[in-house]
Amino acid sequence: MNLKVSEAIKKAENFLKTKSIPKPRLDCEVLMESLLGFNQAELYANLERYLSSLQFESYSRLIERRGNREPTQYIIQSREFWSLDFRVDKSVLIPRPETEILIERVLVLRLEKHAGVSPLRILDIGTGCGNIAIALAKEIPAAKIIASDISLSALKIAMLNAKLNGVKKRIEFVQGNLLEPFCNDRNLKIPPFNIIVSNPPYIPSEQINELSPEVSKWEPRTALDGGIDGLDFYRKIIAKAGDCLVKEGFLLLEIGEDQAEKIKEIAIFHNAYKEVKVYQDYSGKNRVIEIWKK
Ligand SMILES: C[S@@+](CC[C@H](N)C(=O)[O-])C[C@H]1O[C@@H](n2cnc3c(N)ncnc32)[C@H](O)[C@@H]1O
Repeated sequence: MNLKVSEAIKKAENFLKTKSIPKPRLDCEVLMESLLGFNQAELYANLERYLSSLQFESYSRLIERRGNREPTQYIIQSREFWSLDFRVDKSVLIPRPETEILIERVLVLRLEKHAGVSPLRILDIGTGCGNIAIALAKEIPAAKIIASDISLSALKIAMLNAKLNGVKKRIEFVQGNLLEPFCNDRNLKIPPFNIIVSNPPYIPSEQINELSPEVSKWEPRTALDGGIDGLDFYRKIIAKAGDCLVKEGFLLLEIGEDQAEKIKEIAIFHNAYKEVKVYQDYSGKNRVIEIWKK
């Protein structure tokens, strides 16, 4: 016997509760919306409609994947960031809302410190699905943006997202290890950047398995693992970025909430920089460190 949309959602919710999924109802609704091609309002207007047996089978498969702790965003292959839509799959980190603080800081710096600089040269290291680079390309039409990642599969998704968001021609994508493609032993291979941004992997290796299964089982380890103390990437980026920035350029890094003091120390230790500031996200946690080159 065929089920109504509302009945299928209820059944799925009960199943996901047995799997300890944090917000089962929400996920069941989002997966139903994705299956039927509805937004939330359309879903609520169609709760009494009957699903075909094929639709119910497809829905059951989606719910089974969620029951296996696969993140909903990977199942529907979509994630919103900076009010833009991004394609995501398990080769990229799912963008987090707190990363938007990084975008906000770049926009402030552009006005306060780099007004009149054209083109503003920006590098995004570890671009993942391209969310930071693409949001910046949308916001700063005159910027020259380079987005890099060590993962070729991530870069493919980033390029697709740039195309879907209409900024493909405005971003250059480069595969490589951190700053190596751009400067080597103090020799710049390309003109220096005004701003370098990065949300590098920053989870201490041993803590990854303590995170929720959605993260530890599904998100790419190369996007998470920051080495023994989580700071490996900060040490490497901070040591090199001075060579790749213009005079008075900025390095902006997303950080873990308890990492600010140690990263500040790393930056102050390097002679290349003159000022370090830390900014909080909307829940009051330290989230972005801003390092000003001399
Ligand atoms: C935390 S994710 C950030 C993804 C995206 N920028 C965001 O904010 O959601 C870190 C990214 O750094 C990339 N990465 C890891 N090691 C790298 C390396 N040595 N050089 C360049 N990118 C690297 C990973 O592939 C991953 O895409």
